[in-house]
Amino acid sequence: MPLAPSSDPLSASPPARPVAASGEVQALRQRLAAACQIAVLTGAGMSAESGVPTFRDDSSGYWSQFNPQEMASEAGFRAHPQRVWNWYAHRRAVIARVEPNAGHLALARWSRTHEGRMSVITQNVDGLHQRAGSAGVLALHGELMRNRWLDRPRSCCDLQRVAPGEPPSCPVCGNLLRPAVVWFGEALPASVWQAAEQAAQGAEVLLVVGTSGAVYPAAGLAQIARRSGAHVVVINTQATELDAVASQCLTGSAARLLPALFD
Ligand code: APR
Repeated sequence: MPLAPSSDPLSASPPARPVAASGEVQALRQRLAAACQIAVLTGAGMSAESGVPTFRDDSSGYWSQFNPQEMASEAGFRAHPQRVWNWYAHRRAVIARVEPNAGHLALARWSRTHEGRMSVITQNVDGLHQRAGSAGVLALHGELMRNRWLDRPRSCCDLQRVAPGEPPSCPVCGNLLRPAVVWFGEALPASVWQAAEQAAQGAEVLLVVGTSGAVYPAAGLAQIARRSGAHVVVINTQATELDAVASQCLTGSAARLLPALFD
């Protein structure tokens, strides 16, 4: 079972970089067109242009307003279930109001016309890749819009029959509902992680889009791909902790660069 995500949630934001030159973009576009297998690893920056806050961007990131151990761990939920449940309810309301951006749509369009050549692996729980039309999305950290039981479900625990509350609970045994996301200290879904590792190992090109690279094991996919001979490209608006692993860094936003690479 892979190690659970752990990170220094408030790692300082690295310095800015010059914006990607069009020649770089064109050369990468040709490399992608010739690749048999492309893997794309995305993080919160992928959804920033849809209006979804990131976690570590200076003043706007979630972790500059909330303590991740209190809001994104089982212990934090058990200590204050209502506070954590309501924070996820707020995040669900944000997601319900936003749309996939041009970056999500460019990936989905390309994968539809190039069947079986692209694997989308995401740390995001917002479901925007799926809503854009990407198939087989590997959601490493779960899905915000789904719930699961906090304690191992008993025969009485039925997701279709919950007692209302913040959080809702099983009306028979009181088991609490929790968001079906991977919290700090929890293991990633083993089958999803294995599929993501295979995609990274088999890719000729790995695009690492909109992630600070602060959280493992997800960030480790860049090293896995690089060791397997992939051309690893970090696409970000600023420097990241994965720049040192990258074959190439393209500076710019997901919603601008991905259409330029795939449309
Ligand atoms: N286009 C591309 N990159 C962007 C954009 C954009 N429009 N806007 C922001 N970014 C970049 C930031 O520069 C930063 O490097 O997106 C990255 C977001 O980093 P984080 O906020 O750390 O998010 P992420 O890397 O996805 O966090 C990983 O940490 O808290 C946990 O489970 C949570 O999945 C999350 C994990």
